[in-house]
Amino acid sequence: MTLTRRHTLKLGLGTVASIGVSAGCSPHGKQHLQALDNPNQDFTVTGKGSLKQRAAAKGLLYGAAGNYPTLSEDAQFAALFAQECGILVPENEMKWSFLRPTPDTFDFTQADWLAKFARSHNMLLRGHTLVWHQQLPDWFNEVVNQQNAEQIFVKHIETVVKHYAGQMHSWDVVNEGIAGAYNTGRSDRLYDTPWLRFLGKDYIDLAFRVAAAADSKAMLVYNDFALDYDIPRHNDSKAAVLKLLEYLKAKGTPIHALGIQAHLNGSETQFNPNQLRQFLRDVASMGLKILITELDVEDKNLPAAISIRDRRVASVYKDYLSVVLDEPAVIAVLTWGLSDRYTWLSQFNPRPDKLPVRPLPFDANFNRKLAWNAIAQAFDHAPKR
Ligand code: G3I
Repeated sequence: MTLTRRHTLKLGLGTVASIGVSAGCSPHGKQHLQALDNPNQDFTVTGKGSLKQRAAAKGLLYGAAGNYPTLSEDAQFAALFAQECGILVPENEMKWSFLRPTPDTFDFTQADWLAKFARSHNMLLRGHTLVWHQQLPDWFNEVVNQQNAEQIFVKHIETVVKHYAGQMHSWDVVNEGIAGAYNTGRSDRLYDTPWLRFLGKDYIDLAFRVAAAADSKAMLVYNDFALDYDIPRHNDSKAAVLKLLEYLKAKGTPIHALGIQAHLNGSETQFNPNQLRQFLRDVASMGLKILITELDVEDKNLPAAISIRDRRVASVYKDYLSVVLDEPAVIAVLTWGLSDRYTWLSQFNPRPDKLPVRPLPFDANFNRKLAWNAIAQAFDHAPKR
């Protein structure tokens, strides 16, 4: 089936995306991307509430990743963050490379500053992340070996979780355990991390058990990416995540939720609402909650014109959130940053034309964008929890 541009506009993006049709030219070509634009979409929002207030009205949480350098140095940004967010997750400061200057020491200075910032603005706090193969300290490869890996692993989780016990809404206990982007040759698609090599597959179970023993109150989350689209690598990831969650549940692992990162791509068209709904249902039917933990919309390949770009980014937020918020097990949405002034995508996914990227709800001058409206609308339309 081939659609013309007129059909595309008439059917609306959701329909086109759900059936995965390119508009008569290469799927990521300029013409195709322009054809995705729908200037008639309604992003009107009523009322004056912030995102956290709109989310809370539905029994949901909204928040964002924030980091020490920006929140401690940019007072205007910190005020905006406090106004919009009901939950904060440190973007980097609770990772090993920040907490572990040496094998024998812990440095909680920046992480504690963020925990205090959250507390003093009545925000909840999420921890990210106890186990990940990236952002490990420089000493890691020299020091960690088959003999000491388990002791170092357990000590890290125990110490960090105890340090924040009673303060954490949730912990990303294991991050990106599955190789979303790669085929590792393993049937379970587990990523080849040092922990897998030293401790075997049950490093994941062990991490959750140690975390649960150190803080019985925090919600314990398995967090992963590449779960959003109806494309082979995301479909493989979804299947692998479901298998892993089933395995953990069957073992009695104290896991409470799945975190879906949701780093979305403004030029990806293979969004299949029914397939995503089914995935969320499958996760929920295991008795797990779901958090959208790192939402943003990359605009690297979108047309330069800000009006078109912002509209497309907003419609991606809208299409995605309208599906996920329909699922009652989804309890929280966090964006990975709040303002385009501070986003990892500027460094990791810059635009070829060097224009500043615009993936978040607020622009670089802290003005609301259509993306803000799209998120606000999604909360306003969400069923109450
Ligand atoms: O801390 C050093 C600093 O000492 C040095 O001067 C500076 C020079 O570039 O680098 C600093 O480290 C940077 C670090 O962020 C802290 O700012 C690294 O270069 C940079 O690569 C690192 O990027 C982070 C990235 O994770 C690492 O993979 C991003 O800020 C952070 O947004 C991103 O977050 C991840 C989530 O944890 C997991 N899911 C994907 C998400 C996006 O990649």
